[in-house]
Amino acid sequence: MQIRPETGADHESVERVQELAFADARIPTLVSTLRTAAAPLPPVSLVASVDGQVVGHVMLSASRLDAPRRLVDVYVLSPLGVLPDFQRQGIGTRLVEQALAAARDVPLVFLEGSPAYYGKRGFTGAVALGFRAPSLRIPEPAFQVAPMPPYEPWMTGTLVYSAPFWDLDCVGLR
Ligand SMILES: CC(C)(COP(=O)(O)OP(=O)(O)OC[C@H]1O[C@@H](n2cnc3c(N)ncnc32)[C@H](O)[C@@H]1OP(=O)(O)O)[C@@H](O)C(=O)NCCC(=O)NCCS
Repeated sequence: MQIRPETGADHESVERVQELAFADARIPTLVSTLRTAAAPLPPVSLVASVDGQVVGHVMLSASRLDAPRRLVDVYVLSPLGVLPDFQRQGIGTRLVEQALAAARDVPLVFLEGSPAYYGKRGFTGAVALGFRAPSLRIPEPAFQVAPMPPYEPWMTGTLVYSAPFWDLDCVGLR
C-alpha cells in the first residue's frame, strides 16, 4: 500500500471511493469543490493505492479560526474514506498520519469524527482547548483538533468552516 498526493488522473477514483465510503453524494462533490476553491492554504489531497487501485483518500482544506487577536488559517481534515472492502487494514490510520505530517506548518487541524477513532490518531477534544464548534449540531466529543508545532495558546475561538462546507450542507452531517 502506497500513500501519495493525488494527481489529476485520480480525481474520478477519489470521488468514487468517497461516494462508496460515505454513501452520500455530497461528499464527492465536496472534494471536487474544495480542490478548486480559492483558499488561503493549498488543499492537501492524499490517496492510498493498492496495486495501482485508489482504495482510500483524505483531504485537508483551509478554514479559519476566529481567535481574539486575529483570524488564523487552519486546516480541516475532511473527508477521510476507505473503500468498504479495504477497511480495518490500517489504511485510514496511515492516511491520517500522512495528512498530519503534511500539516506541520499550520497551527491547527480540526475535524468532526469519532473520538474513539481519532483520539488514538493524534486528535483531542477541541472544546477543552478553548475552541468552539461551528455548529450546535456537532456533539462536543466529535469536535476534535490536533495542535501542530506553530500552535500558540492564544489561538482559541470559533472554527469557521470555508464556504464549500456550508454551500453543500456538509457541516455536522445531518
Ligand atoms: C473511518 C474509516 C476511514 C477508517 O478507515 P480504516 O482503514 O478502516 O481504519 P484503520 O484500519 O486504520 O483503523 C481501524 C479502526 O477503525 C475502526 N473501523 C474501521 N472501519 C470501521 C467501520 N466500518 N465501522 C466502525 N469502525 C470501523 C476499527 O474498529 C478500528 O478501531 P480501533 O482503532 O479501535 O482498533 C473507514 O471506516 C471509512 O471510510 N468509513 C466510512 C467513512 C467515514 O465514516 N469516515 C470518517 C468520517 S469522520
